[in-house]
Amino acid sequence: MTRQPTPEDRFSFGLWTVGWTGTDPFGGPTRPALDPWEYSDRLAGLGAWGISFHDDDVHPFDADTSTKDARMDRLKDACDAAGLVIEMVTTNTFSHPVFKDGGLTSNDRSVRRFGLRKVLRAVDTAARLGASTFVMWGGREGGEYDGSKDVYAAFERYKEGLDTVAGYIKSQGYDLRIGLEPKPNEPRGDILLPTVGHALALIAELEHGDIVGLNPEVGHEQMAGLNYVHALGQALWSDKLFHIDLNGQRGMKYDQDLVFGHGDLTSAFFTVDLLEHGFPGSPDAPRYTGARHFDYKPSRTEHLDGVWESAKACMASYLLLAEKAAAFRADPRVHEAWEYAGVTDLATPTIAEGESLEDFRAADADFDPDEAGRRDFGFVRLNQLAIEHLVG
Ligand code: GCO
Ligand code: MN
Ligand code: MN
Repeated sequence: MTRQPTPEDRFSFGLWTVGWTGTDPFGGPTRPALDPWEYSDRLAGLGAWGISFHDDDVHPFDADTSTKDARMDRLKDACDAAGLVIEMVTTNTFSHPVFKDGGLTSNDRSVRRFGLRKVLRAVDTAARLGASTFVMWGGREGGEYDGSKDVYAAFERYKEGLDTVAGYIKSQGYDLRIGLEPKPNEPRGDILLPTVGHALALIAELEHGDIVGLNPEVGHEQMAGLNYVHALGQALWSDKLFHIDLNGQRGMKYDQDLVFGHGDLTSAFFTVDLLEHGFPGSPDAPRYTGARHFDYKPSRTEHLDGVWESAKACMASYLLLAEKAAAFRADPRVHEAWEYAGVTDLATPTIAEGESLEDFRAADADFDPDEAGRRDFGFVRLNQLAIEHLVG
């Protein structure tokens, strides 16, 4: 058992997570749908700090403008009354058949124009409701057949769309930053921006890239066989870690969206360790200060009670891992092992300050590669200390 979560923990949930009724490609819903404010009330009661949602999680896709605004206002009132922050808003550009070939990069120009207008409207909603992050997950931006997409043009249109949205945010003076969410596949066979690295490369080409960063999801990196802690690390190094989607995934398969900690537990430990304590040898490096946001799906085997249990489980996993990580960081054996392993030495620049390249190159004379090659790093011992703290 661990302590109860409080708003100070900054836990946040997408409405589509607890709101998932269990519909998958092979079967219909296994649970009833509640109204958005019923989910937010329950989440507040469990100790969450905030929520996030897609435009269409709150109102039907085809509702008229006054119905859309009225439902948004009703949700905002419920959140205010419950003390919940609407910290992130995003746009659904994937469910309606119109988006079957994408929102911003559909081969159909009329669809691209419609998709971009839908995103801009959601930006206005995000600003009006006080969100600080605007996530863009291009789930349908991609394809199944290499011949079906001019990828050069697709990136031109992706850039055009993102710059239009970011430029609009700036022109309106909205206090919002965009978080791109990479994913390798599903629902498309291949999605553009499959990983954090791909998204960083696109951001570097944007005109308004200063307010565009990342929303990396645990399972999405792991679906590609990649390392989530490294993804967070590189996003932080680029000062682009704007938001996170925490969940669990077991290897390279479909997007499982399990409870946080129910996938790769060691990776979850080092994820929390990094989020809570930063890099071990780089105290001045950027730190993540945003929402601890969960994007998971309560398994469709669970009743509604199981939905709340699984939301509690996400927060409890995080808090348990945070306790373990704090003990790991405080353990003098860990500090010794870091030093022995060179973990803290990596922050020392390779070339000394003021050292000329000539002097530096001459240093070969004093270096014995055979001697250096005999060094032991003790990485296994260091990792075992983490395991001891994790499950000992
Ligand atoms: C997925 C994605 C989504 C996004 C969400 C926000 O289904 O794979 O993770 O859940 O996070 O649509 O845009
Ligand atoms: Mn996912
Ligand atoms: Mn996600």
